[in-house]
Amino acid sequence: MDEAGQPLRDAHGRAISDLRVSVTDRCNFRCQYCMPADGLPWLDREEVLSFEEIERLVALLVGLGIEDVRLTGGEPLVRRDFPRLVAMLAAVDGLRDLSLTTNGYLLERDAAALVDAGIGRVNVSIDSLARDRFFQITRRDALPRVLRGLEAIAAHERVRPIKVNAVAMRDFTEREVAAFVGLARASDYQVRFIEFMPLDADHAWTPESVLTGAELRALVEREHELIEVPREPSATARVYRFADGRGEIGFINPVSEPFCADCNRIRLTAEGRLRTCLFSVHETDLREPLRDGASDGELEEIVRDAVWRKELKHRVGEPGFRPPPRSMSAIGG
Ligand code: 5AD
Ligand code: SF4
Repeated sequence: MDEAGQPLRDAHGRAISDLRVSVTDRCNFRCQYCMPADGLPWLDREEVLSFEEIERLVALLVGLGIEDVRLTGGEPLVRRDFPRLVAMLAAVDGLRDLSLTTNGYLLERDAAALVDAGIGRVNVSIDSLARDRFFQITRRDALPRVLRGLEAIAAHERVRPIKVNAVAMRDFTEREVAAFVGLARASDYQVRFIEFMPLDADHAWTPESVLTGAELRALVEREHELIEVPREPSATARVYRFADGRGEIGFINPVSEPFCADCNRIRLTAEGRLRTCLFSVHETDLREPLRDGASDGELEEIVRDAVWRKELKHRVGEPGFRPPPRSMSAIGG
């Protein structure tokens, strides 16, 4: 069959239109649910894709039906000259949406440059609004600085929506709910809780450590009536608005309510491997063919073949589940 011009599809009939690109495996935080306290062995510089290599792959993938690209890490803003990459990708023909997930630490420094470069939307990860508890999770005493970064990017009205993502963990996040509800109601940030997934380098995850979206919503509903907002099939968040009209709050429930059936995503790691699932145990190297001079047609065939074999679903919580060998920082959220 002649596939040229057909959008990317997998064997389960899912069209793939969303790409996450990890631009570095390095990070300036050491979040408990992601990295060990001492960090991880970082990739060598020459192992990491250059901006030009990322640009080539993104342009190729956009030609195959990718519409949305999100830049992640590690922490993307620790990559030298990162706004230049944003400008290169913003110029890729056919790309509809270019967004960023960051821990916010360097956002005050980079907000204006990112906006000039053409970033469309920004998500900032914040797990606690209390300084000491933020430190406990991230192992960095950086909450005031992150909040300044959030404000710096929000000052640019072109960048919307701005989302604040909190990983939800049992015996921790329960006490954060009131503060995040306050933030969601006092600002136009979209606050979302994400269920803790077994992607932590320390392998401390247990099924019991997941504070589910349903539990969190029940906590919110003790104080506030919520009304569900209709969503796109491929949207990962269940979003609710407060019945009094002030603000919204979202829940991303990959563990308790997997959304694999509607998954439209693939991921590119910092060293140029294609991953078709967060929990993939197999990945497809694109860097070697790229550096060996493969044509666009040859790369396209490798990509189509890998995407075709995209996993049906993750098996978190099922007997025999094994977490992938990489932690979140090495995969790219
Ligand atoms: N479970 C859920 N979310 C995680 N993130 C990192 N590790 C995990 C995990 N184990 C989130 C970060 C950030 C995004 C990139 O991924 O908090 O919001
Ligand atoms: Fe860094 Fe993000 Fe991992 Fe935290 S979750 S250590 S900010 S990559």
